Amino acid sequence: MSQLLRVQDLNAGYGAIHVLFDINLECDQGQAVAIVGPNGSGKTTFLNSIFRLADIFSGRVVLDGKEIQREKAHRITSYGIGYLRQEGNVFPGLTVEENLKMGAFNLPGKEVKERMDEVLSLIKPVEVFLRRTAGTLSGGEREMVALAAALMCRPKLLLLDEPTSGLSPIASAQIAELVKNLKDKTHLSMLVIEQNLKIMFDIVDKCYLLVSGRMIFSGQPEELQSDRELMRTYLGLS
Ligand SMILES: Nc1ncnc2c1ncn2[C@@H]1O[C@H](COP(=O)(O)OP(=O)(O)O)[C@@H](O)[C@H]1O
Ligand SMILES: [Mg+2]
Repeated sequence: MSQLLRVQDLNAGYGAIHVLFDINLECDQGQAVAIVGPNGSGKTTFLNSIFRLADIFSGRVVLDGKEIQREKAHRITSYGIGYLRQEGNVFPGLTVEENLKMGAFNLPGKEVKERMDEVLSLIKPVEVFLRRTAGTLSGGEREMVALAAALMCRPKLLLLDEPTSGLSPIASAQIAELVKNLKDKTHLSMLVIEQNLKIMFDIVDKCYLLVSGRMIFSGQPEELQSDRELMRTYLGLS
């Protein structure tokens, strides 16, 4: 498998606030990689720094052989990164269809319709509420729309920040099923932050444990699961 993303010795944060220390991470083509860790450990900041929404102090972010750590945030989408943010990930006053179109701002106008059809074939439930105003949808429906919108830019790499947070068990299972299906059907690579470890272990090929801004473990999900000390200390499970 060829490598899609390599993060090397990354130090990042916000202004004078240093959040991430010497982070190294790799994600191959078609791989789903999880970042887990306690609240406040810097998981969101890590995705933000890849998407250039946090400040990179030093280190490299290489996507498909190209260094992007100095690129402006508005160009990152064009390099092939889609981002499902934890909060504020839909425009509530716009219709679902408009939300999807907003996600495709980097595509030439004539490709938007074709891409929307592709995305709707992957995230099927969204089709029935295309004309609804996004703000009137349930949490689970809104998350599906946000996922679809993040796919509109034709990403090579999809960043997912807690896609099931705040959802009911049924809605969480639906989102997990969509993400799993997406992984199986496309050659998309993903970085996933997911608190629901059962869902996470079912989807990902590799996981990283981030604690206080430092990666303290990387390996197969089974390796992490069988390390009772790490699981108990940092993930609240025995
Ligand atoms: N916009 C911001 N400006 C300054 N500090 C921030 C900002 N966002 C997050 N932080 C700080 O960065 C640290 C990591 O936060 P975050 O990346 O959100 O952690 P996680 O996603 O793992 O819960 C926290 O100490 C948080 O207070
Ligand atoms: Mg977070």
